[in-house]
Amino acid sequence: MRHQSWGGFAEGKNNLFTHPVLSEIGTAHDKSAAQVVLRWLIQREIVTIPKSVDPDRMAQNFDVFDFALTDEEMTRIAALDTGRTLFFDHHDPEMVAWLSKRRLDG
Ligand SMILES: NC(=O)c1ccc[n+]([C@@H]2O[C@H](COP(=O)([O-])OP(=O)(O)OC[C@H]3O[C@@H](n4cnc5c(N)ncnc54)[C@H](OP(=O)(O)O)[C@@H]3O)[C@@H](O)[C@H]2O)c1
Repeated sequence: MRHQSWGGFAEGKNNLFTHPVLSEIGTAHDKSAAQVVLRWLIQREIVTIPKSVDPDRMAQNFDVFDFALTDEEMTRIAALDTGRTLFFDHHDPEMVAWLSKRRLDG
């Protein structure tokens, strides 16, 4: 079983594409913050499905296999996790009931 990142860029929330830590790490590898995010997911063996309508950004999102984040960089990125979802909480009983109802209603 593999995890898959739905909205792996968090839809750009919290200024993800210009985040100072991600940008700094990206600069060290001559990559963008977005490419650092993809690499962080890939190195954790999480399937990435980044979405873009822009051909240049699509190409950028494929161009993540010629560098590797160090253990220290991986740790710095992991430390950004606030433990709180930016979307909705799949552990919230009300949300689970709502999702179940939607599925049953078709
Ligand atoms: N978000 C969810 O909750 C969710 C749930 C189920 C499934 N999914 C699936 O997961 C996939 C991705 O999710 P998503 O599209 O919602 O969110 P996402 O991939 O987190 O973010 C998409 C946003 O990132 C921008 N972007 C992409 N590449 C970029 C780059 N290299 N630099 C800067 N900006 C970049 C896109 O803008 P441009 O298009 O202008 O480049 C778009 O605004 C989709 O196939 C979606 O169907 C998402």
